[in-house]
Amino acid sequence: MEKKKVIIIGCGRVAAKHIKAICKLKNDLELRALVDVSEDAPKKLIEGSKLSAEAKEKVQVFKDYKEAIDTIKPDIVAVTVPSGLHYQIAEYGLSNGCNLLLEKPMTMSSEESRLIYELSQKTGNKIAMGHIYRYFPLVKYLREDIVSGKFGKITHGTIYVRWGHGEDYYQSAAWRGTWRSDGGAMMNQTIHAIDLLVWLMGTKAVSATAMLSQRLRNIEAEDIGMAVLKMDDGSLASIEGTTATSDKEHEAMFSIFAEDGTISLGIRNGKPKLNIRYKGKSRNMHYIMQQIKADGIGSMLNALNPHTGIYDDFVKALKEGRQPLADALSGYSSVDTLMGIYRSAKEKREIPLPLQEPFASSDMTGFFR
Ligand SMILES: NC(=O)c1ccc[n+]([C@@H]2O[C@H](COP(=O)([O-])OP(=O)(O)OC[C@H]3O[C@@H](n4cnc5c(N)ncnc54)[C@H](O)[C@@H]3O)[C@@H](O)[C@H]2O)c1
Repeated sequence: MEKKKVIIIGCGRVAAKHIKAICKLKNDLELRALVDVSEDAPKKLIEGSKLSAEAKEKVQVFKDYKEAIDTIKPDIVAVTVPSGLHYQIAEYGLSNGCNLLLEKPMTMSSEESRLIYELSQKTGNKIAMGHIYRYFPLVKYLREDIVSGKFGKITHGTIYVRWGHGEDYYQSAAWRGTWRSDGGAMMNQTIHAIDLLVWLMGTKAVSATAMLSQRLRNIEAEDIGMAVLKMDDGSLASIEGTTATSDKEHEAMFSIFAEDGTISLGIRNGKPKLNIRYKGKSRNMHYIMQQIKADGIGSMLNALNPHTGIYDDFVKALKEGRQPLADALSGYSSVDTLMGIYRSAKEKREIPLPLQEPFASSDMTGFFR
């Protein structure tokens, strides 16, 4: 099989994880261009990468993403620019025959996300979302058993994402923590966790009730948010997302409670945490062995750089003509849910989902004034 040509648009923090994944999957993927408005960013990214000298020579550098797409005609465009720029680049990429590895959140509004989802349907070009949690080991096997009813009736799910970031993080780029280009802890750090929880529960959110606050960080948007989602099977999901914790401690935890068992999995400072119980007994080893047997021991390491899992699945999805694990619909639904959460905080009421009218993160401007 010919290698897929990849270009990366936006050469900042997350782009380094993309290059790491491309290096790991060098038999399937070839990095052909880096694009950034800053001259230094692509150079730093290449220098800090483990690309071979030969692979480095194949990488062209552009300042203008349209020129890069028109020149290289890539199979995959990785969109790793600030979130407020996702829409315009995704629209151009899809309209010009490219598949996208689109970072989360898909866009900054329910309407733009709907348009991108519909455009991918219309053009047939695929989108793999940067929803890293779906690519954690065991997750897809747990979902199969939850959805097939093995754990019995689900009562509720909970997540907390305590992803501390200090002032230095927010000061590192002007777009961070702004309503228009980033949103706060719920939109940036928690959206992919919400996507995982809803997906694992195998149902859909039908309403959102939420509150947001600003406690420690000097930003425009929230540094802490709490929300409750009502699901269409009557179960409930609670969500806590914050960056107002220590930047030395990064923790995300998912739990699902059901009639016959509980499933808790997460990550704390890079170390996985797992507690799966079925009828009072631990089932941890059962799921670990299932993962190793089906996908090999190496797949357990995807927890260290989930972007490797995203690219690996995307290459297979393109070959098999199927949708990737975190597809365009997951991008659109999670933004729609997030916009419901923001709207609920703004209007102090329960908001039905999917949204009946468009809502954008920028509609929150002035919320904390
Ligand atoms: N999935 C994940 O785990 C994950 C982790 C971190 C960030 N992200 C997402 O990735 C995106 C980028 O985040 P980051 O932390 O890497 O940001 P960053 O600020 O570190 O990097 C963004 C880069 O984009 C460049 N850029 C800005 N405008 C551009 C343009 N018009 N054309 C080309 N380049 C342009 C900037 O110069 C910068 O180098 C965000 O949407 C964020 O939410 C996802």
